[in-house]
Amino acid sequence: MIKNQWYAVLSSHQLKKGQVLGARRFGENLVFYRTGKGQIGCANGLCPHRKASLAKGRMEKDHIKCPFHGIEYDATGKCVYIPSEGKAAAADYARFHLESYPVWEIGGIVFVWYGDEEPSGEPDYFDVMVDKSFTYDQVDDLWNVDYSRVIENQLDVSHLAFVHHNTIGRGGKTLCNGPMVRWLDGNTMQTSANNEKDNGQDYDFGLFCPGG
Ligand code: FES
Repeated sequence: MIKNQWYAVLSSHQLKKGQVLGARRFGENLVFYRTGKGQIGCANGLCPHRKASLAKGRMEKDHIKCPFHGIEYDATGKCVYIPSEGKAAAADYARFHLESYPVWEIGGIVFVWYGDEEPSGEPDYFDVMVDKSFTYDQVDDLWNVDYSRVIENQLDVSHLAFVHHNTIGRGGKTLCNGPMVRWLDGNTMQTSANNEKDNGQDYDFGLFCPGG
């Protein structure tokens, strides 16, 4: 993983109010939980006390409660109650705070900040995700590969005529004009490509360069 980035890790509908959900992300078993007010917590899935799975826990008011000895944590991962020490305890619970991750939810997507620095700002997202005049849906499709392979695959147009010769790559269009890549700003990339039959012409790298 590239550190110090926001990563889209869940869809909002996967985590309803009052729900606890275990999910493996970043090679780590994490626990997600949503309070009655809608705030989301994300932390390492093992309770710091005796390493019980917090994914088996439940929400109690706005706290996640460990199933083993009932220790409670708020949405930031802070330990707020240790039953065995009693409500009147003036103990410092800092030693039990969860190893938590910053969370940001927008446009129906839950983002988690993965890194050792503080988040640099809000996640990048497409404007249409928060434009109420648009609707969109999602498809879950699990690929058992590193995520960098998936990105590479989406950008690789030269395999279309071979791997997908009877669907999206039909027509024997083996010559690739592009892929063109154009940076619109420091964080936004536009890319396009057009394949055509090879009649001996030169490929045109900039043929489909938007605006140019
Ligand atoms: S293991 Fe979680 S409270 Fe003891």
